[in-house]
Amino acid sequence: MSETAHFALEGNLMARPMLETLGPRHVAIIMDGNGRWATMRGRPRLFGHHAGARRVREVVEACPDYGVKYLTIFAFSTENWKRTQVEVAGLMSLFRRYIMKEMQAFVKENVRVRFIGDRPRLDAKLRALMDEAEDFTKHCTGVNLTIALNYGGRDEVARAAQRLAMDVKEGKLDPAEIDVETLPRYLDTCFLPDPDLVVRTSGEARISNFLLWQSAYAEYEFIDTLWPDFTPEELGRLCAAFGGRDRRYGAVKA
Ligand code: IPE
Ligand code: IPE
Ligand code: MG
Repeated sequence: MSETAHFALEGNLMARPMLETLGPRHVAIIMDGNGRWATMRGRPRLFGHHAGARRVREVVEACPDYGVKYLTIFAFSTENWKRTQVEVAGLMSLFRRYIMKEMQAFVKENVRVRFIGDRPRLDAKLRALMDEAEDFTKHCTGVNLTIALNYGGRDEVARAAQRLAMDVKEGKLDPAEIDVETLPRYLDTCFLPDPDLVVRTSGEARISNFLLWQSAYAEYEFIDTLWPDFTPEELGRLCAAFGGRDRRYGAVKA
C-alpha cells in the first residue's frame, strides 16, 4: 500500500460461501429514481443520491445468498453531465466519499471492485481513488462489483472501435478476423461475462444506453421501486423469478 493510500486494510477477510442456484450469475442494475425519492420527501435531489448510495452495500452483500457472482451497477451515465452543475458536482463528491468510505467494508466482504466507463473526463482525484479501489480489492474472490461511472454503451463501443482500429493500423489485427468474439475483448467489460438479468428501478421501461452490446440476450425486469427503497429481499425475488424463465437464445427447445 502506498503512502498516498486513502484506505488501509483492517480485520480479516470474510469469505462468504456462494450459493449455487439456477438464478442469474451476473445481475446488472440501472439504479434509477433517487431524484424522485428525494422530491417526494421535499428534499433536494442530492439527498436521494446519498440515500441511494447507502443501499448499495447491503445489496452487494446479499449477492452470495442468491448465487450472484457479478453485480454491475449504473452510477453515472455519459448523458448525466447534462444535469445542473450543482447535481453533477454533488454526485462527483459523493463518488469520491463513497469509495473512501466503503472500500474497507468491501475488502472485509471479499468483494472485488472494478469500474467501467470513460475515465479521462473524470477529475484526477476521483480517478486516483478508482485506481486505488481496484488495486486494493484485486485479491478479493467473492462478488465482483462493477461500477459504471461516466459510462455509456454507445461511447464504450466507439472507444472499442478506436482501439480496434489502432491494432489494425499497427498490424496486430487482421480486419477479416474481426467477429463477435473479437469486439467484446475491446469493450470496458472484457473481464465480465454478459449480464443474465438487467433490472431497472423507478418504473421507467428503457435502458438509457446501459450495456448495449452485452445485454443482447439478457432478461429484463422493470420494477416500480425507487432505488433508495430497493432491498436485498427484492433482489432475491427477482433472482427467483429469473430461474423460471426459458432462455432460448434463438433456438427451439425440444
Ligand atoms: C438515478 O436517479 C441516479 C443517477 C442517474 C445518477 P435519478 O437521479 O435519475 O432519479 P430520477 O430518475 O430523477 O428520479
Ligand atoms: C440512467 O438513469 C443512468 C443511471 C441510473 C446512472 P437516467 O435517469 O439518467 O436515465 P433517463 O434520463 O431517465 O433515460
Ligand atoms: Mg432517472
